[in-house]
Amino acid sequence: MDAIDTAQDPTLDDLLSDEAINRPFDYYRRLRDTHPVLWNARWNGWIVTGYDAVVAGYRDAERLSSDRFTGPFGAEMRASETKYTQLIGFLSRFFVWKDPPYHTRMRMLVNKAFTPKSVELLRPRVRALVRDLGEPLRGREDVDFMSEFAFTLPVVVIAEFLGIPPEARFEVRDWSNDLGGVVFTGGADDSRFVKGEAAMGKLVDFLRPIIRDRLRAPKDDLITRLCQAEENGVRLDEEDIIANTVLMVFAGHETTMNLLASGMIAFDRFPDQWQRLRQDPSLARTATEEMLRYDGPIKGLGRWAKVPFEFFGREIRQGDRMLLMQHAANHDPAAFENPDGFDIARWPNRHAGFGQGVHTCLGAPLARLEVQEALTWLAANFGRVEVLDKELRYARTVVARAVEGLHVRFHDT
Ligand code: HEM
Repeated sequence: MDAIDTAQDPTLDDLLSDEAINRPFDYYRRLRDTHPVLWNARWNGWIVTGYDAVVAGYRDAERLSSDRFTGPFGAEMRASETKYTQLIGFLSRFFVWKDPPYHTRMRMLVNKAFTPKSVELLRPRVRALVRDLGEPLRGREDVDFMSEFAFTLPVVVIAEFLGIPPEARFEVRDWSNDLGGVVFTGGADDSRFVKGEAAMGKLVDFLRPIIRDRLRAPKDDLITRLCQAEENGVRLDEEDIIANTVLMVFAGHETTMNLLASGMIAFDRFPDQWQRLRQDPSLARTATEEMLRYDGPIKGLGRWAKVPFEFFGREIRQGDRMLLMQHAANHDPAAFENPDGFDIARWPNRHAGFGQGVHTCLGAPLARLEVQEALTWLAANFGRVEVLDKELRYARTVVARAVEGLHVRFHDT
């Protein structure tokens, strides 16, 4: 092992410490200042915090694998394979956890269904939805921002886009949350697998007849487009369409919700930027990018080395795990001027909030659309955002940046 590692300073070692969870800017700055690629014995892997290194890692699908069913991340999933057949069977089809060439084939087919044009067509509907959710916030002393706004917007949008019937959208979201228990937590707790298996079973029973119906009678929705997508005579089979639908509900909801929340927190901290947005609503686009950079909802994601190689002066061994901390990369002073500032007109803004390379977020155009429309309406209607919570609590996870509850007041002037 190379000489520089977190063991030099035990306070660097704990990725779930109060500092790491509540003050990630400070914690990851200390890591990056020690070395942009740092061995962490406690997590048993490399923690990558420098901008260039994180981007290089994301772009290196040749040597760094996303596969959760082989390699060092795979043991638990493989051990559960025979017991939780539906759960593991469908999770193993999530293309976010696949490498090329399988990933390339799937992504190509899904890209045909999930086009930027089909997303842009949603704009009037998203605008109307934002207004419907925003109006009741007017004049209120205390708004529970998560449950009254940030939670509902992405659930309704992705459900309508996919073509999930309105009466089922919140149930589908609950089942997808139970899957989150399997994906985002670790440890020996078997109950999360039991819950995940039950949730996957319900999702499959619910989605299969909808897919068969779309095959018989196509509609103008994403499930239909997934059924029709074709490349060189190859189509997605029914199991892949189910898995992809679940992945989209799952990937697109919490992230967008948490970004809306962290944006409100940033605007409370930097009220001049809210005024700026009010004066020039066309800044909603660059403001959305700056929200993703400043405090995006995914702090980092895992990879593992398929082969030994040298990476930013470190010797990576085959099978080593790596955490690509995009949140830290987005605050690297080598890549961003005044990185801890919040400048809604920042441009160019090459943040890594949606990842990079072959797995770059599929839903980025949809997330951007939702946040841009939300910012535009809120800034046009409210003079100031005030966060009411004395102290904000964040979920204790390495991957997500998720505030647990947010109370705000939207002032008229
Ligand atoms: C602010 C909101 C969002 C953020 C910050 C975000 C972030 C990300 C990131 C970082 C990745 C890369 C994963 C990796 O490299 O391992 C990703 C992939 C993905 N995202 Fe998003 N996402 C957001 C919203 C959405 C939405 C709305 C959808 C809805 C469809 C979505 C669907 C996906 C899918 C399917 C992938 C896998 C892509 C692939 O592996 O080729 N995301 N997202």
